[in-house]
Amino acid sequence: MEITEAVQGFNKKYEPRTVAPSNQYVLLRFAEVLREVLGSTSEVGNMNEPPMHVGADVAISIGNPKLARNIAERITERHETYLDKVVAEGPFVNVWFNKEKLITETLTVVQELRDMFGTSDVCGGMKTLIEYSSPNIAKPMSVGHLRSTIIGESLARIYEATGYTVFRENYLGDWGTQFGKLIYAYQTWGDIKEVKHKPIQTLKDLYVQFHEESEQDGTLNDKARDIFKRLEGEDGTLLRLWKQFRDMSVTAFESVYKRLGIVFDNYDGESYYRDVAEETINECLKREICMYGEGNAVVAEIDNLPTFLLKKQDGATLYLSRDIAALRKRVTAFEPHSLLYVVGSEQTLHFRQLFALAKRLGYLDSVRAEHILFGLVMLGGKRMSTRKGSSVSLEELLDKSVVKAQEILLKKNSELSKREQNLLAEMVGIGSVVYSDLRQSRERTISFDWDKMLNLEGGSAVYLQYTYARARSVLRKAGNKVHVPEQVRWEENIEFQLVRKLSFFPFVVQEAQRRNAPHLICTYLEELARQFNAFYNDIPILKAEGGLRSTRLALTSAIAITIQNGLTLLNVGVPEKM
Ligand code: ARG
Repeated sequence: MEITEAVQGFNKKYEPRTVAPSNQYVLLRFAEVLREVLGSTSEVGNMNEPPMHVGADVAISIGNPKLARNIAERITERHETYLDKVVAEGPFVNVWFNKEKLITETLTVVQELRDMFGTSDVCGGMKTLIEYSSPNIAKPMSVGHLRSTIIGESLARIYEATGYTVFRENYLGDWGTQFGKLIYAYQTWGDIKEVKHKPIQTLKDLYVQFHEESEQDGTLNDKARDIFKRLEGEDGTLLRLWKQFRDMSVTAFESVYKRLGIVFDNYDGESYYRDVAEETINECLKREICMYGEGNAVVAEIDNLPTFLLKKQDGATLYLSRDIAALRKRVTAFEPHSLLYVVGSEQTLHFRQLFALAKRLGYLDSVRAEHILFGLVMLGGKRMSTRKGSSVSLEELLDKSVVKAQEILLKKNSELSKREQNLLAEMVGIGSVVYSDLRQSRERTISFDWDKMLNLEGGSAVYLQYTYARARSVLRKAGNKVHVPEQVRWEENIEFQLVRKLSFFPFVVQEAQRRNAPHLICTYLEELARQFNAFYNDIPILKAEGGLRSTRLALTSAIAITIQNGLTLLNVGVPEKM
């Protein structure tokens, strides 16, 4: 749909996620104090749990001992009731919280907020448009698009959890010279029955065939270019064919999104911008931002970036010219504070050129545009390419993961029914793929490794899902009765450490948003789960008594809630039983 129309619909029905006021959380109140004292936000991000030998509850790396002393004094002067002691040590400010207050407040706030625990209103009132997935029609969604889909959805959820209104945009690659190739191949070797029966596979095979044959016969590329030219000229027959391919592709993509639990606010496509692109190019020419090159091609040279084309010699528009037109529409239709493009790192230059041009045109005067890049995906040590036909389709990957999850779950001898087992395998299998992507730092080349992905010992979705199910099972045995006693009680260091960890959760979510880094949530959850499992193995929960038992149960419940909320931000499900 045209984005203007889509935004109107969105504005009518979108309900922003209800988030908690930041000042409900002790740790965020402290972060606010820190921000005021520092007069900036930058070092607030350096707030951390210090290593054991330091003994403090929270440490902030300031970088400069003199400044650290000054900051420690100024925090002390504020006499915050939840703080016991603030001391500068070298370039660090070390902070001791009042343990009882931290435990009572944290456990209480989790019980009150439940699925809202972790959300905050730091970015309340802000709007962002996130473009992600953006596969190319007539091709299977590749494992490369999988990263965009997974990272984009998680960022959308994380942004919403900090108060953002988020518009989810899918920019289909549905225009360009490749459709000349595809249509040529279809008209020459294709068979409509086969296409209807298995659209994506058949179209992909035709595309691969084109590349094989064009290596023998150099004239094929010219023929394909000519067809695309006619398509841009709105040739009726070609347009109808193209539209058929597009519709079949969207239907196939949607079945994948459904499986992943993702719903877009709009499917836009490059094709919508072929006319607007013309207008934008004319504007660039008029304002002398670009110029005519050889044979009426239009060329731009901005900010010392390599020169790029906005229009080819034969008059056809390009990827970049359609993108600049789409960018402008996004800005005027939605009026976001930021535009995020979740796209692989191989397109870095493209986005630098796009943003430089957009700035020059004044489109980004009140909007921040950002390329959220990510590394390649390797499978079995090889990178993938659709053109050569060597890529694994996303569905194959998901299916394989579900089968592997099934095998592991069966070994565990669970008491679940067949139906429950199938649902669980789907949740674990898909969750494993999603989680394994997100836990690796976004910018790096990542690999999918089945053993790591489904490792029960840690570093995987299934480890967190197990931990969650284990916590839930304890709570069931206690009749699901959880309350935070008036007078909390604790005996072991690990209990306090767990609460401190919990108190960090809303802060970690904020940091994940600020740095566009879902893996921070993964790291956090893995540490939390590891500590909880140590606690669970060493310390009696159900057998404890009185206030100690209630406190431990409240802690167990808070951990279950936090794992669930954290995994939801990553778009990974949790099972009640496993
Ligand atoms: N369809 C493109 C591809 O698969 C990705 C689109 C990225 N988004 C953009 N606005 N250029 O390579």
